[in-house]
Amino acid sequence: MASFYVWATFGLCLLKLCLTKTQFNVSCKYRGVFHVEKNGRYSLTRTEAADLCRALNSTLSTLEQLEKAHELGFETCRYGFVVGYIVIPRINPYHLCAANHTGIYKLSANTTGRYDAYCYNATETRDKACEPIERIDTSFLSNQGEIVIDNEDGSRYNADGTRHSGDK
Ligand SMILES: *[C@@H]1O[C@H](CO)[C@@H](O)[C@H](O)[C@H]1NC(C)=O
Ligand SMILES: *[C@@H]1O[C@H](CO)[C@@H](O)[C@H](O)[C@H]1NC(C)=O
Ligand SMILES: *[C@@H]1O[C@H](CO)[C@@H](O)[C@H](O)[C@H]1NC(C)=O
Ligand SMILES: *[C@@H]1O[C@H](CO)[C@@H](O)[C@H](O)[C@H]1NC(C)=O
Ligand SMILES: *[C@@H]1O[C@H](CO)[C@@H](O)[C@H](O)[C@H]1NC(C)=O
Repeated sequence: MASFYVWATFGLCLLKLCLTKTQFNVSCKYRGVFHVEKNGRYSLTRTEAADLCRALNSTLSTLEQLEKAHELGFETCRYGFVVGYIVIPRINPYHLCAANHTGIYKLSANTTGRYDAYCYNATETRDKACEPIERIDTSFLSNQGEIVIDNEDGSRYNADGTRHSGDK
C-alpha cells in the first residue's frame, strides 16, 4: 500500500503536477506604470524585480514615472521597488496601507528585504490602460516552473500561450 502511494506521487510528478507554479498579479497601467506581485506575497529582490520588468518588456519604474502615474490615480497597498526606492503610491488614507499616509510613501532603503515591483512600459502613453499582459519573455527569469499572469481585468495568461477569459 505504501509503495502504491510512493508510485502515485512519483507518477503525478512525472505528469508535471509537482512542478512549482509561479503566479504574477499585474495591475492596470497608468501612463505605462504598473504593479507586479509574485506568488501573492513580497518575494522579489531588487535584481529580480528589475529582471521581471524586463521579462515584461518594460523597465523598473523611476520615482518620477511613478509620481506621474500617481497623479493620474494610481494607488496600491503594496511595497514595491522603483529605481532607488521602495514605495507605496497612496491616494486615499487607509490605516492598513502605508500607515495612513497619502502621496508616494517611501520605505527607508532596505537592501535585504523582498518586495513587489513597479514596472514602466515606455510605449504605453495613455493615462490609464487595462489591457491584459499576454506575453512574458521567460529568458529573463530563473526557473519558475509553470508561469501564469493574473491581470487586473480578471483574465489569466498562461506562459505556454493559452489564455482563458475570466478563468481565475
Ligand atoms: C493576486 O491573485 C490572487 C489569485 O488570483 C489573489 O488571491 C490575490 O488577492 C491577488 N492579489 C492582488 C494584490 O491582487
Ligand atoms: C487617516 O488619515 C485621515 C486623513 O488625514 C484622517 O482623517 C484619519 O483620522 C486617519 N486615520 C487614522 C486611523 O489615523
Ligand atoms: C529590512 O527587511 C528585512 C526583511 O524584510 C527586515 O527583517 C528588516 O527589519 C528590514 N530593515 C529595515 C531597516 O527596515
Ligand atoms: C518592447 O518595447 C520596446 C520599447 O518600449 C518596443 O520598441 C518593442 O517593440 C517591444 N517588443 C515587443 C516584443 O513587444
Ligand atoms: C506596452 O504598451 C503597448 C502600447 O499599449 C502595448 O502594445 C504592449 O503590449 C505593452 N507591453 C506590456 C508588456 O504591457
